[in-house]
Amino acid sequence: MKDLEVFSTVRSLRERLESKPKDAKVAFVATMGALHHGHIALVKEGFSMAETVVVSIFVNPSQFNNPEDLEKYPRSLEQDIELLKAAGDVIVFAPPVEEVYPAEYQELELDLGNLETVMEGTFRPGHFKGVVNVVKRFFDIIEPDYALFGMKDFQQLSVIQFMVETLRVPVEVVGCETVREPSGLASSSRNKRLSESELKDAEYIFKTISHARSLVQDQTPVEVRASAIAYHEESPLKLEYLEIVDPRTLMPIEEWVEGARICIAAFCGGVRLIDNAALIE
Ligand code: PAF
Repeated sequence: MKDLEVFSTVRSLRERLESKPKDAKVAFVATMGALHHGHIALVKEGFSMAETVVVSIFVNPSQFNNPEDLEKYPRSLEQDIELLKAAGDVIVFAPPVEEVYPAEYQELELDLGNLETVMEGTFRPGHFKGVVNVVKRFFDIIEPDYALFGMKDFQQLSVIQFMVETLRVPVEVVGCETVREPSGLASSSRNKRLSESELKDAEYIFKTISHARSLVQDQTPVEVRASAIAYHEESPLKLEYLEIVDPRTLMPIEEWVEGARICIAAFCGGVRLIDNAALIE
């Protein structure tokens, strides 16, 4: 298997991208490393749309509101590169913090409205500001035609779509289905921090989603939410929030709407996990 091209500076990456044929499309997959099946699925999807796929590996400090979470975030660059080799000839961008945020970097101030105050926004103040800044910075560096994001981070996907529309960034944002383990647990870099018994406990999140799905026909969103919370409370996990929301506004709903989504965040031991799914297709 041949070695992947790995760049750590903006200038070397730009030179590489400028050397490709003018009409070759570029797809971009932003990651914080600790790659898993979900990321590989995004890369494969990227290759179905574009000749060149750039994968960034950068643990973005500005999106962590909790310093301990940042410190404990798994880092495994060599393993990540090995995994990516099997997905195709990707270009890896793994910059140090100073390349992403040089001294002259001007922070992007964008009012995200409700999108940054509900759910993740309530529990992780400043998180989406950090996400929007780093993703916009990567868009400016890479100038991709397509950018692929997993739907596991549904609120993040909504925020990025909002940023792209508001700032008229010329990129097509593509949301890709959540990849799940056979147990239903959503693939996540954070799963690497779970012990065997915690991995089993974490399955409760998807079981709660399935429980909610089984009630949709006969109950209102408010009733389904209450029942799903009660069901989840039987588990050893500590629920942070469980909401049933409109997929466009992310606001809680009282009547069913197309694409209504259940969104959950819960602690499994010391690891915070999130998941979501459509309840009505
Ligand atoms: O979803 C993630 O891993 C991160 O939030 C992202 C999009 C790579 C930005 O740092």
